[in-house]
Amino acid sequence: MSGIAPHELRLAPSILAADHSSLVEGLKIVQELPIKWLHLDIMDGHFVPNFSFGPQTVADLRKRDSNLFFDTHLMLDNPDKHLDAFLDAGSNLVSIHIEPDYDVDATLDRIRNADRQCGIVLNPATPAQAALPYLDKVDLILLMTVWPGFGGQSFIKDTLPKMGLLNAWRKERGLNFRLEVDGGVDLNTAQLCREEGVDTFVAGTAFFKAPDRAAFLKAIEHP
Ligand code: DX5
Ligand code: ZN
Repeated sequence: MSGIAPHELRLAPSILAADHSSLVEGLKIVQELPIKWLHLDIMDGHFVPNFSFGPQTVADLRKRDSNLFFDTHLMLDNPDKHLDAFLDAGSNLVSIHIEPDYDVDATLDRIRNADRQCGIVLNPATPAQAALPYLDKVDLILLMTVWPGFGGQSFIKDTLPKMGLLNAWRKERGLNFRLEVDGGVDLNTAQLCREEGVDTFVAGTAFFKAPDRAAFLKAIEHP
């Protein structure tokens, strides 16, 4: 639809892929480049079969960087229960999975009422239609392109049509949410996503292991 400015393409490196005994080193790697977003993967060992880190870690990273846009991805059975801690820790955007049984609408309202941006997240098997009730309420829709829980997995290509569908709905309805992908994103898979209308790219392994991270950033944001 005309009149809607397309979003700038954005890389959101996932600090999950850095060395957790020294996340400051991971943060420095990000700070060395003109990177605007940092993706923070929060896992509770219930909704996903793994743990990552909690609000204290987010708050401590925030103390070391006041400029990065903190894109916090809650992989929790009870995002409503733990939300305040992640808002207080300095998240700029919080995205919540729609699969667990809780009041998604109310939790999105709480994020907005705290003057932060909000997003919903869909697992690979969750159909695009499940996002319909929230399309006009969110700043971002995050599509998982792996099953959440671990970094370093392979991109699931079956998720590509879902991106195209959400992009079409966004255009048709004149909406302005960002469309983000997470899991197995490298320069090849990012291009496939971009062709479907994705504008925001989480990359853990591919970014931190890239031989030339500046070139990786450029290839994502200025292809
Ligand atoms: C999975 C996480 C990951 C991650 C990205 O639960 O959300 O998708 O940060 O990791 P890579 O880029 O290594 O797949
Ligand atoms: Zn994530």
